[in-house]
Amino acid sequence: MTHHQVASTQAGTAEKILTGDRPTGQLHLGHFVGSLQQRVQLQHRYEQTILVADLQGLTDNGHRPNKVAENILNVVADYLAVGIDPLKTRICLQSAIPALAELAMYYANLVTVARLQRNPTVKNEIAGKGFGASIPAGFLTYPISQAADITAFKATLVPVGDDQLPMLEQTNEIVRKLNQIAGQEILVECKPLLSNMPRLPAPDGKQKMSKSMGNCIYLDSDDRAIARAVKSMYTDPNHLRVDDPGCVAGNVVFTYLDAFHPDPGYVAELKQQYEAGGLADGTTKQILTDCLQTLIAPIRAQRAVYMADKAQLVAILKQGSEQAQEEADAVLTQIKRAFGLKLF
Ligand code: TRP
Repeated sequence: MTHHQVASTQAGTAEKILTGDRPTGQLHLGHFVGSLQQRVQLQHRYEQTILVADLQGLTDNGHRPNKVAENILNVVADYLAVGIDPLKTRICLQSAIPALAELAMYYANLVTVARLQRNPTVKNEIAGKGFGASIPAGFLTYPISQAADITAFKATLVPVGDDQLPMLEQTNEIVRKLNQIAGQEILVECKPLLSNMPRLPAPDGKQKMSKSMGNCIYLDSDDRAIARAVKSMYTDPNHLRVDDPGCVAGNVVFTYLDAFHPDPGYVAELKQQYEAGGLADGTTKQILTDCLQTLIAPIRAQRAVYMADKAQLVAILKQGSEQAQEEADAVLTQIKRAFGLKLF
């Protein structure tokens, strides 16, 4: 599956990896192809931490905290079900690591409100969420908290989608300012690791797949739900009769076949046939349905096993968070010293 391979990084470098997810819903196929598969590979080669960013999730859900609380274990079960191994990857919970919140308080003094307002991702989100004049302070400042997440573990490599690049830029600005204040390099700048998979579109081909749009194929969707989602997929509106030549570009069924079918050669043949005419949308959709059902069935089964033992999920998070707190505390001490505030 060459198209799922992790972007090559220098062999032998001791990269430290940190990624995070806001637990505001179950993870879906977009996460799977964009980042989960990559994390499964990375854990074999690098020290990897995954942060369930519940505090960040609250920054736009303060009025409905259940949306976050309810999804913490969902997300952990999703990780485990796709093969993220808690013995190889440290999985931890942001709110259980107080040093992260403390670090953010220090960093907040190095960042202006104007700089936060210029952050393109924050700007887009503010416009999209319709906050009007009522932007939660926590929301505007979440890039600072994310800088704390990243620097607390001295992460050098952060696998993210391109929407997160402004967060890494702000993080590195904070790193440089702090090192200047400290007069030595106490923090390290991080680099993004961009997934080489393009963002997966929703079945309608217009939106991205997202929890809020109700158009997701989840990692525990059943066969009927998968078939229904595939049936609704946008194809080529001008492909009226089977014999008509069809268009592959923008055809969501082919986008998904490219992303998920294990045999790219076979998909290439299908595309040729489709473009020449003679391949029905019903057929391509059936092929995709079979492919996704085969992919998801074992993940769904694993996930159900993990969700049946919530105490185990909690124990995994607790252990990861305790280790993380120890590491983050050491960084916090360095930061306090840099500000001259470590008296005892
Ligand atoms: N902002 C990320 C998102 O919305 C989640 C996140 C929180 C994160 N902390 C992080 C990502 C640290 C990378 C590193 O998906």
